Amino acid sequence: MTVPPATGFEVHGARGPFNAAFFGLMGPYIEWNVRGQKRRVFAGLPRTVVELGPGVGANLRHLAPGSTLVAVEPNPHMHRRLRAAAERRGVHLDLRERVAEHTELPDGSVDCVISSLVLCTVTDPAAVLAEVRRILRPGGTFRFVEHVAARAGTPTRLLQRVLRRPWAWTFEGCSCERDLAASVCAAGFARVDIQEYRLHSPFITFNTQIAGVAHA
Ligand SMILES: C[S@@+](CC[C@H](N)C(=O)[O-])C[C@H]1O[C@@H](n2cnc3c(N)ncnc32)[C@H](O)[C@@H]1O
Repeated sequence: MTVPPATGFEVHGARGPFNAAFFGLMGPYIEWNVRGQKRRVFAGLPRTVVELGPGVGANLRHLAPGSTLVAVEPNPHMHRRLRAAAERRGVHLDLRERVAEHTELPDGSVDCVISSLVLCTVTDPAAVLAEVRRILRPGGTFRFVEHVAARAGTPTRLLQRVLRRPWAWTFEGCSCERDLAASVCAAGFARVDIQEYRLHSPFITFNTQIAGVAHA
């Protein structure tokens, strides 16, 4: 199902298709780098999962065939690849062209929300986390894999600062300077388990990451 777009996401005629092609091409490489973390936090997903910003479907492999993915993806340039990937994986796709700040899903209606590399890009991470809490049932989980700001004073942190503008322009608003562990911990979940780790990819500003589970 495709519902009409909610406001707040600029669909860019050049960057939209570029990002869809980039994540289509680089997805397997990124996936290989974060495979251990994703296997851990996405283990045992329920049959219906809400995903924020699924892009072209990097996380479909973590859903069992026959599952349903409610995909909150505002960039229509991602949709063709996402549909094709869901079909290949045997996952039923319920596609919502909306932003994660306003999913329009009912209160307390969801067992599990997942995201990867999305809280770095949304306009308002705190609003997204409030929305996640609103839609999760008590005991439900938010499972995430995200890249975050490096520790202050490190060379990686300096590079994140220097490259912030071209990086944000290229990747549709993405910031490498967000302390997302603090954002998740401040969002009012009953319990949060977070692991920090570092990748060793050539995309240095992207290498400082967190993965975790927040319990509603
Ligand atoms: C860096 S890509 C990551 C895609 C995918 N999750 C992955 O791991 O490959 C960021 C995704 O977030 C989506 N996005 C950007 N702003 C969003 C928002 N406000 N709400 C939901 N998704 C958003 C983008 O369209 C894009 O698909």
